[in-house]
Amino acid sequence: MQVNGRTNVFGVIGNPIAHTISPLIHRVLAESEQRNMVYVPFHVTSQLDQAIKGAFHLNIVGMNVTVPYKSEVIDSLLAIDPLAKAIGSVNTLVRRENGYEGYNTDLYGLKRAMESEGITLQGKTIIILGAGGTGRTAGFLCAKEGAKEIYLLNRTLEKAVEIADHVNTYFQRDTIKPMALGDYGKITKEQVVVIQASSVGLSNPEHVIIEDENFYKRVAVGFDIVYQPFETKFIKCVKESGGQAYNGLKMLLYQGVEAYEIWNNCKIPSRVIEDLYEQMKEVMEL
Ligand code: ATR
Repeated sequence: MQVNGRTNVFGVIGNPIAHTISPLIHRVLAESEQRNMVYVPFHVTSQLDQAIKGAFHLNIVGMNVTVPYKSEVIDSLLAIDPLAKAIGSVNTLVRRENGYEGYNTDLYGLKRAMESEGITLQGKTIIILGAGGTGRTAGFLCAKEGAKEIYLLNRTLEKAVEIADHVNTYFQRDTIKPMALGDYGKITKEQVVVIQASSVGLSNPEHVIIEDENFYKRVAVGFDIVYQPFETKFIKCVKESGGQAYNGLKMLLYQGVEAYEIWNNCKIPSRVIEDLYEQMKEVMEL
């Protein structure tokens, strides 16, 4: 693609940003549709609000926002999608007449990734391991999709309690039960769906948040947010106990696809998404 006077500029703000895969995602999608756009990383180390204002006045059409700015960026927005507001996390900005509107495509990324593997959440018993930013997003998604019951387990109990209170109030239903991580043995349900939303296992094939094989006997489906290594120890544990298990690369894929579709008001065909997934694996050496 040749940059010219009509090229629309998109980008991603974060710190650090050097390892982002998002430029590849949006280049492949733009090429598939022959759109005249570029997507560039912006390394913002301070003055986030100034950066967002500058982006607006430079006519940047859409932005992604990543760590550590997904909450802080909310103060710089003109408007915010109600669900993104409730989650308290924004990763996608859409240019409007007087400023940016914020969305959360991480939630839809997780939803579409799970759907693509045939995993449904409605009526299910779900265990979420980890109550950081991703655990919070997973909690909102599971409640939104009508899970029967959700156990949110975290090493630091208070964080799980805070998320559970927040989500249960938002949906006006006591769906999420917060628990200390060490209390997993108290869950007696069978055939559960587990979302591994902690950072345990990230870059380390030896580490897993729960070692106990009795736990894995209850797991029908495991979804690990981590994708590096491609097969985490969590995934191995689930598979060894006879369950199905998937990693988080498709969540990364679909949060990007969802952002692109919002910006360009389009729907990307599944064969393009599948091809993009293969290219991501290749570039990331997974
Ligand atoms: P993210 O935004 O990607 O979810 P995060 O907010 O840093 O990342 O959250 C990391 C999660 O992994 C937290 O739930 C954290 O537990 P605490 O809230 O108790 O810190 C969890 N985590 C990280 N290291 C862990 C470990 N060694 N054992 C158990 N949980 C761990």
